[in-house]
Formats: sequence, structure tokens, C-alpha cells
Amino acid sequence: MKRIAVLTSGGDAPGMNAAIRSVVRTGIHEGLEVFGIYRGYNGLISGDMRPLGRSDVSNIIQQGGTILFSARSDAFRTKEGRATAMANLRTNEIDGLVVIGGDGTFTGAHVFQQEHDFPIVGLPGTIDNDLFGTDFTIGYDTAINTAMEAIDKIKDTANAHNRLFFVEVMGRDAGFIALRAGVATGAEAVLIPESETKLDHLISKLEDTYASKKTSSIVVVAEGDDAGGAFQIAEKVKERFNDYDIRVTILGHTQRGGRPTCMERVRAGKLGYEAVHALLDGHRNEMIGIVNNKIAFTSFERSIKHHQRIDRTLLELVDILG
Ligand code: F6P
Repeated sequence: MKRIAVLTSGGDAPGMNAAIRSVVRTGIHEGLEVFGIYRGYNGLISGDMRPLGRSDVSNIIQQGGTILFSARSDAFRTKEGRATAMANLRTNEIDGLVVIGGDGTFTGAHVFQQEHDFPIVGLPGTIDNDLFGTDFTIGYDTAINTAMEAIDKIKDTANAHNRLFFVEVMGRDAGFIALRAGVATGAEAVLIPESETKLDHLISKLEDTYASKKTSSIVVVAEGDDAGGAFQIAEKVKERFNDYDIRVTILGHTQRGGRPTCMERVRAGKLGYEAVHALLDGHRNEMIGIVNNKIAFTSFERSIKHHQRIDRTLLELVDILG
């Protein structure tokens, strides 16, 4: 293997730049040439790629977003698109590829590998933390800290006005961001898709909180919750219990940006380093994650088919402590 390439795909996540930097510099350290592919799989199809030197990745470790840009590629879902991508890899004499992204990215990589038998390894890059085979995805730690800080601020104003806030956080169909942010901010309740939302239970909890004269209440809602989004749930609660002055905040894409946390940068650096060595050691079609603080390899197929499990004790914590 003489030349490898790296791309970021799907929703960007803080820490992706730290991972790119690590792949590029580890690759060069190992005597490889490293290409950057721009705009995810779209760049692979259009041939938008160029060699990256050590200085091309200077001063990016602390930046959110991705210097390689990202995309959700429709063209790569087609056989023709993937064939063009393979032709471009051949033309540019690329021998191996590191893809950084989430389940959509790994689904694409898996199909591509089956069709073209090309060496690919993946790094988990998504704020959602919803991939099986790693305890933490790149972006998750920063996103939960962003959500926590935002909710802390909301609590200040909620307190001042004795209000109940429903705060919606991202996570697609997973509740990892909601759960951690909820525990960290002492939320009254956390509503996540992994656990059935019972409105009666929520309302009786809010009634207790109101009766205890607590001056602010926060309910963290995962965007994929089975009872609906924060606005819908707030409406349903309002119909049955309107003692509280209710407000809704959607944190949205603020959770995707910002400077990666220290843990994020360190994990991304380690994963980038491992990705290059994995390619050199003959790993293919696998995601490289961290499980119990150790490097773990999981096939793309497994990582996308299963979600890692929610920590149920955290749900209990919210109930008891919130
Ligand atoms: O997968 C990351 C994520 O931010 C999800 O939490 C969210 O549902 C989705 O991407 C939003 O995607 P987009 O930026 O395309 O609107």
C-alpha cells in the first residue's frame, strides 16, 4: 500500500478535523502518500481529490466542521456512481480508503466493498453516538457538552420566570445525546425513543415538581422520541396540565458545531492513527471504535445493523435525581 485517501461523509461532527489530521500525519509518518477527498462520496465520484501534506492539516485540530467538507451522496447510492468512484480510485492510484462518518457512510462503504473489493476502513463520526462497536463516536462528547451548556443557560431563565421548558436535542432515532445532557443538567425528565414515553407518568412527575415549588423544570426530548417532537409533546402536556408557563427550545444544528472537547480530539487522534495501521495490517470493511478504552474492530454490516444499548441506569438516575 503506497497511497491512501481519507473522506468525511454524512452529518459533520466536531473532531472530524482532528481525525483527518491524524490520518494524514500518521500516513506520512508510515511512508504513505495521503489524499484528501472532498465532499464525501460525491468527491470520489467527481474526482475531487488532492494530496495532503503535513502543513495542509496544520491548525485544524481545534476546529469544528470538516476541512474536507461533507455530503450525503445520492449518486453513490447508484451502481453507476460507485463504478465511477472505483475508476477514480484507480486513476489516482489509491490503494486504501479511510471513511469517517455514520451509518449511511458505512452502508455505502459496505456495498462498495462488496462490488469492488476495495480496502476500506471506517471511523465512527457522528454526534448521535448510535453506532454499534464503539462506546463513543467522534462528535458525541462535544455535542453533549454543547447541549449541556445550552440547557444550563435555559435553566437560568426558566428559574427567573418559574417556567417549564421542553428542550429538543438531536440524535435522529437515538436518545444518547438526550440522556447524557438530561442527567448532566438535572432534568425532570428525559424522553427518548429507546423507552416508551408515557404522558401520564410525565404529567404526574411535573405535578409533583410543581407542588414542591421548584422554580424551574426541564424536560429533554430526543428528536426521534415516540411521542413526537418537543412542540407536540408540550402541546399535549399543556392540554392536561397548564399550571406551568411552558416554553419550547430546539437546539438543532448548534449541537453539530463548535470546538471539539479535549476527549474528542484525543480519541479522534487515536482513531486516525489506528485507521492507517489497520489498512496497513490488512483490515478491510471494518469500523474502528473504542470499547472499554480499547481499540475494537466491527464489520460495517454489524455496526450499522445494531445500535449500542442505552444505559438504563442513567434513565433511573433522571427519575430519582431530577
Ligand atoms: O446524524 C447527525 C444529525 O445531526 C442527526 O442528529 C440529525 O437528525 C441529522 O443529522 C440532521 O441532518 P441534516 O443536517 O441533514 O438536517
